[in-house]
Amino acid sequence: MALEFRFIEPDGDWYEAEKKLRDAVLRQPIGRSFDPNEFPFERESLHFVAVDGDRLVGCVLFHPRGRSGRLYQMAVAADCQGQGLGRALVRGLEEALVEKGIVEVVLHARVTAAPFYTRLGYTASSEDYLELGIPHREMKRRLALC
Ligand SMILES: CC(C)(COP(=O)(O)OP(=O)(O)OC[C@H]1O[C@@H](n2cnc3c(N)ncnc32)[C@H](O)[C@@H]1OP(=O)(O)O)[C@@H](O)C(=O)NCCC(=O)NCCS
Repeated sequence: MALEFRFIEPDGDWYEAEKKLRDAVLRQPIGRSFDPNEFPFERESLHFVAVDGDRLVGCVLFHPRGRSGRLYQMAVAADCQGQGLGRALVRGLEEALVEKGIVEVVLHARVTAAPFYTRLGYTASSEDYLELGIPHREMKRRLALC
């Protein structure tokens, strides 16, 4: 893979590919289709993606709120999972956030993905709850402690 990581603009060149990946990885497996109104703060969010040649293979979004914010829509293409791409996306995003003065990242992890975030230093900050009918858990990480 000739991987490249970059921030993209909503409505820029790679945005359609990002939405397709999110639909395929996050929505279709739970029997839903992509809802453009689901995240009203999407345009105020950072969109960090992994591109392999002409294919977008991973993405993660971040909505800043003061010196904290929410990481969401973390997705790696099915045939690229388990190769360190998710970790590289989160670490690349966190590096950029530190430069912007963000000190804390919060996320709503699907319980099935919680061990992935634990491996990256995130800890649970809520009981498990249902979101879209799927068990979730809020998790956090202090970037200032890196
Ligand atoms: C969850 C996801 C983003 C992880 O990305 P990935 O590229 O497959 O993960 P990586 O290869 O970078 O894994 C990093 C580490 O986490 C572990 N890991 C990854 N996914 C895991 C999971 N679901 N359960 C347990 N461990 C997991 C890996 O084994 C690896 O461990 P290591 O530190 O021993 O090497 C990806 O599998 C995915 O898109 N899944 C479907 C969508 C999803 O669940 N998104 C998250 C919604 S909250």
